[in-house]
Amino acid sequence: MCGIIGAAAERDVVPILIEGLKRLEYRGYDSAGLAVIDYPSHTLERLRVIGKVEVLEKSLKQTSLCSPIGIAHTRWATHGKPSQENAHPHISRDTIAVVHNGIVENYAPLRSLLEQRGYEFTSETDTEVIAHLIHYYSQQGMKLTQAVQTSLQELRGSYAIAVISMLEPNSVVAARRGSPLVIGVGIGENFVASDVAALIPVTQRVIFLEEGDLVTLQRDNYQILDFSGTPVTRPIHVSQLQADAVERGTYRHYMKKEIFEQPRALAETLGNRIHNGKVLEASFGHHAQHLFDKVESVQIIACGTSYHAGLVARYWLESIAKIPCTVEVASEFRYRQPLPNPKALVVTISQSGETADTLAALLEAKRLGFGPSLSICNVPESSLVRASDMVLMTHAGPEIGVASTKAFTTQLLALLLLCVVLGRRHGLSAAQEAEIVHAMETLPGAIEKALGLDKQLQVLAERFADKHHTLFLGRGIHYPIAMEGALKLKEISYIHAEAYPAGELKHGPLALIDNDMPVIAVAPNDALQEKLKSNLQEVHARGGQLFVFANHRAVLPASEFLEIIELGEVNEIISPIVYAVPLQLLAYYVALIKGTDVDKPRNLAKSVTVE
Ligand code: F6R
Repeated sequence: MCGIIGAAAERDVVPILIEGLKRLEYRGYDSAGLAVIDYPSHTLERLRVIGKVEVLEKSLKQTSLCSPIGIAHTRWATHGKPSQENAHPHISRDTIAVVHNGIVENYAPLRSLLEQRGYEFTSETDTEVIAHLIHYYSQQGMKLTQAVQTSLQELRGSYAIAVISMLEPNSVVAARRGSPLVIGVGIGENFVASDVAALIPVTQRVIFLEEGDLVTLQRDNYQILDFSGTPVTRPIHVSQLQADAVERGTYRHYMKKEIFEQPRALAETLGNRIHNGKVLEASFGHHAQHLFDKVESVQIIACGTSYHAGLVARYWLESIAKIPCTVEVASEFRYRQPLPNPKALVVTISQSGETADTLAALLEAKRLGFGPSLSICNVPESSLVRASDMVLMTHAGPEIGVASTKAFTTQLLALLLLCVVLGRRHGLSAAQEAEIVHAMETLPGAIEKALGLDKQLQVLAERFADKHHTLFLGRGIHYPIAMEGALKLKEISYIHAEAYPAGELKHGPLALIDNDMPVIAVAPNDALQEKLKSNLQEVHARGGQLFVFANHRAVLPASEFLEIIELGEVNEIISPIVYAVPLQLLAYYVALIKGTDVDKPRNLAKSVTVE
């Protein structure tokens, strides 16, 4: 977690660092800071604040900091609480400044060693050992690059760092092991950051550093060394990311913008992956056909919202593709010692492609001897993408709001594409395939229609804002959608929300029902609606407030205890994707009324790169 950025230019880099940090805040936002070699005073200056980048920006206005070289950081606390002392950059003896993303596992013995060498620690972080180590080696006469290299050899864990030194005031040295890092190649200026989005305002030419790489950059050149210290050339990519793709435009929050971007995101994800009523298998890569031929089952691994997408896919894979599927939370899978099945396709789902548990679970599945791997991901060149045999990118565009919305619905669409190509091998007919493809083509329009409920949901949200709990119910493929609705509500409104398969109600949760516990039911007109109706009657009979998302009003007789939110006729295949959307909007409006920080809810971060 955490976002880092560094810059070497001829102009003042302070505004560049701040703009970059704002674009990295999705990685953490409990404190922020920067360090520059101030011009003209030639001193190492640092500013750190508790809170978001905007607080740092305000504090900067009280200073006259100006510099052609600097590093900056936005933090998601791991070692040590969010405080000014623990905020980055960390400095050693007014000479070395370091920003760091990741975890140094052996920081405790290193800290003792450095204390014996006379270094004084002023924070609880693991990062401070890196600053002191680099200082220590610099004092032994090493150049900054070598001092960083030597220090990194002593660290265990996964990290990306950026360093500046008063001893070499024109350089930024940065390195990655386990955490992403990209170089931005400008004209007469160079940058480094956790992610391309941070660099887009200054350059579109980027280099993705590889595992173990270290770069020394000055304003007019850069040199990359690989893990063995050998100079290497890495290709320059021209990023397709648009600067405004990560801007909020006229929307008050990224989350709302991203919810409304879903028709376009889905259309782009479908893109040219279908033709004449067929899914094009080449979309999964050159080797897909050969790899899919061997597959007899599917093991899905993911976390959070992406896990919910996997749960939905299980219903599709078993009912449409007729292939057995298991779905597991990555943090459980990686430690469970699962029995390997070489014919099981391992599907990892991740918006960021950097989720530590998902990545580790994939590596574990490979080590154990599971079958080929496919990653469904929204970030090209991410660690997960690079570790997988096959990739199906979701083209949702950057998702900045911490609560995942368009990434989720595009993941679902990608999983439906997968379902078709596997189904073909297990008896899915051309006519059935054409029917699914047609349903997928209607998806952007169906989502547009669901977005039309916006105003109604805004009003409905008022009924939830003063509640402390909400129960979500669903059956079959809509049960994971109820889970996702509950996750959205809890993470941004802080209202406790739980989802149950409706049939489980009478096995315990019914005891919770009273008129203070709103119950949301996801109840489209599918084969299970009749069964769901009786579950809803059970709630109704106990005075519970029911809010039913359904195709038509006919679900239950309307009453003062029952409100129907009507979505109209929705094709059954794509129904879970469509029903996710009003639940996102409802959560958004409840959070808005409660006045929470919708895009950056407390204690969370967008990219969970720590275990
Ligand atoms: C919730 C949310 C998280 C993520 C989870 C996995 O709205 O976004 O639950 O889904 O942290 O992240 P990715 O998909 O990046 O692996």
